[in-house]
Amino acid sequence: MSETPGSAEISDQAAYADAVETAVAAAAAYYGAGDSALDDDSYDRLVRGIAEYEAAHPDHVLPDSPTGKVAGGAVVGDVPHTVPMLSLDNVFSAEGLESWAAGLERRLGRPVERWSVEPKLDGLAISARYRDGRLVQLVTRGDGAAGEDVSHGIGMIVGLPGRLAEPVTVELRGEVLMTHAQFEEANTARTGAGHPAFANPRSAAAGSLRARDRDYQVEMTFFAYGALPMDDSLPELRTLPHSEIMTRIAAWGAHTSAATPVAGVVREDVAGIQERVERIAALRAELEFGIDGIVIKADLAADQEQAGNSSRAPRWATAYKLPATEKITRLLDVEWNVGRTGIIAPRAVLEPVEVDGSVITYATLHNAGDIARRDLKIGDHVTVYKAGDVIPRVEAPVAHLRTGGETPIPIPASCPRCGGGIDDSQKRWRCSQGRACHAIASVRYAVGRDQLDIEGLGENRIDQLVEAGLIADFADLFTLGRDELLELDRMGETSTDNLLAAIEGAKSKPLNKVFCALGVRGTGRSMSRRIARHFATMDEIRAADAEAFQEVDGIGPEKAPVLVAEIAELAPLIDKLAAAGVNMAEPGATPPGAEPAATEALPLSGMSVVVTGSMSGPLADLSRNEMNELIERAGGKASSSVSARTSLLVAGEKAGSKKAKAEKLEIEIITPDEFAARVKEHL
Ligand code: IVH
Repeated sequence: MSETPGSAEISDQAAYADAVETAVAAAAAYYGAGDSALDDDSYDRLVRGIAEYEAAHPDHVLPDSPTGKVAGGAVVGDVPHTVPMLSLDNVFSAEGLESWAAGLERRLGRPVERWSVEPKLDGLAISARYRDGRLVQLVTRGDGAAGEDVSHGIGMIVGLPGRLAEPVTVELRGEVLMTHAQFEEANTARTGAGHPAFANPRSAAAGSLRARDRDYQVEMTFFAYGALPMDDSLPELRTLPHSEIMTRIAAWGAHTSAATPVAGVVREDVAGIQERVERIAALRAELEFGIDGIVIKADLAADQEQAGNSSRAPRWATAYKLPATEKITRLLDVEWNVGRTGIIAPRAVLEPVEVDGSVITYATLHNAGDIARRDLKIGDHVTVYKAGDVIPRVEAPVAHLRTGGETPIPIPASCPRCGGGIDDSQKRWRCSQGRACHAIASVRYAVGRDQLDIEGLGENRIDQLVEAGLIADFADLFTLGRDELLELDRMGETSTDNLLAAIEGAKSKPLNKVFCALGVRGTGRSMSRRIARHFATMDEIRAADAEAFQEVDGIGPEKAPVLVAEIAELAPLIDKLAAAGVNMAEPGATPPGAEPAATEALPLSGMSVVVTGSMSGPLADLSRNEMNELIERAGGKASSSVSARTSLLVAGEKAGSKKAKAEKLEIEIITPDEFAARVKEHL
């Protein structure tokens, strides 16, 4: 997975002294007001550079150096911890993990019986002391030996109840963070009260927890990751496996990762750990809260005790760090673009910066209200966030890096595409012409490979057709005349006939493709498939109200009314398509309420199917999306990960961890050829 990251190059003693000074100041700001000028990644590189220099020049080491110190030596508090609050050592790759685990087993002289694998929550460590089930004190990590009393935070933290379900006397340890939603709310409240925005959820949590008096309200979330006895009660906390302690904590009513998609799990070997690491990394972008890695712990108390701790970190646990998802860069400009549905969206133009493995030059700003709420200005240093395939977004300006030279972001008064009016009645502004404003983009989308898949209709050709006034939307394609096409520049007889044949072929696409082609806001190909399967005909879709839409998997109370409104808006287009003879039914699907007999007869009815490795034989040319479509046509549900709920794994050549997992879970595994035979009627 991730490569071991680099370090800052420090060539001489003066550079070393500078680096130490910068790191100490950054750590002080980070753990103090939560406003460091360095992002986590830059700080870590700097400290690694310092450590490398110190290793080569042990006689130059300065007493202030952040290396080997909890929190970089930045903070001290006056509440002593009963047991030190330690840091974690890091690994950055599968090899690093393997050698760490092997090292631990060598130290123990035996294999570790089981491992606990859980998310590394990106917040700040807290010790929560409960007496007889009541929360009496909150203490930060501080320098690990003593922390700061932040008991004034009691009541602001979701998941840290004032009273536990049992009258236990116990110290819970865990992480306090802001979910993405809490961060947005906190910044709205904070900027609304005239304060500069917090740069990111982590510093927002740190700053909010330490502030005693605040003229606005914020909410945070607690995740427990351990429990310690505070007196002679609960001696079992010293002997129970970590995983069982976590179950206890949850039963007492404190929040743990158990209820999240990245819940802590127990694994028996490094291959099992690695697979969970990959799974958590893959889920990261969709989580409601930030994680910066995966924590791997020897699960059994006996293993932990025998391994012991160094002064800084336990030897029985490590953090598998994931690449940084956040960086600080500069906002150079804001562009306003009109999308295919007429939405006018601002986009940040950034000084290029590498985040999570790719160079980012643009990031979304959502809408005009968002810009105002974040109090962004051109020239600002901003934090940008990007994880996995999620579109990068600007989180906030780094207010203390302002020079005074920043300028306001120009907000358009008319549609930047057609110059017409703007409908600003909703959060997301829209051209008052709606979809008509950017017809070319809608048509381009509709004829794309995953929609109507009309070959020979590239971008230039579409532009030409729209500009010649031959089409205003994609339904007009179906009534194009041969002679009209022949009059176009660079359109010969053959290409005209080929194009007309391709258009004719698109008429018989299944409903899910036709529906997807409409470009209803909030529906991509997989949602379109679910909608088409559920309703079976376009008439049923058009007759559905918000309640009916919510019966479709993945459609909630927020999305449903938007769909109803969108489909109403698209009525003239749908009518035109129907009149042109475009198919309006989903093969094999039955409308809600009708006899489901047909579905039950499908070969994959009720099955959850995962595909891995490369496909061969009759399936050789199918993309993963096409495989998923095939599975759904045959009545099954396509999924990308193997779990206890998986019914069937189609494993081709080069199948890896998914196959191993399916074997372990005793899930039926078949070859692409066997699968093709099973679903031959749907190929
Ligand atoms: S265990 C003695 N588990 O990461 C073991 N820590 O970089 C130390 N953290 O100080 C803590 N998620 O604030 C543990 N699931 C998790 C964690 C976790 C986040 C934090 C914690 C710790 C820091 C070390």
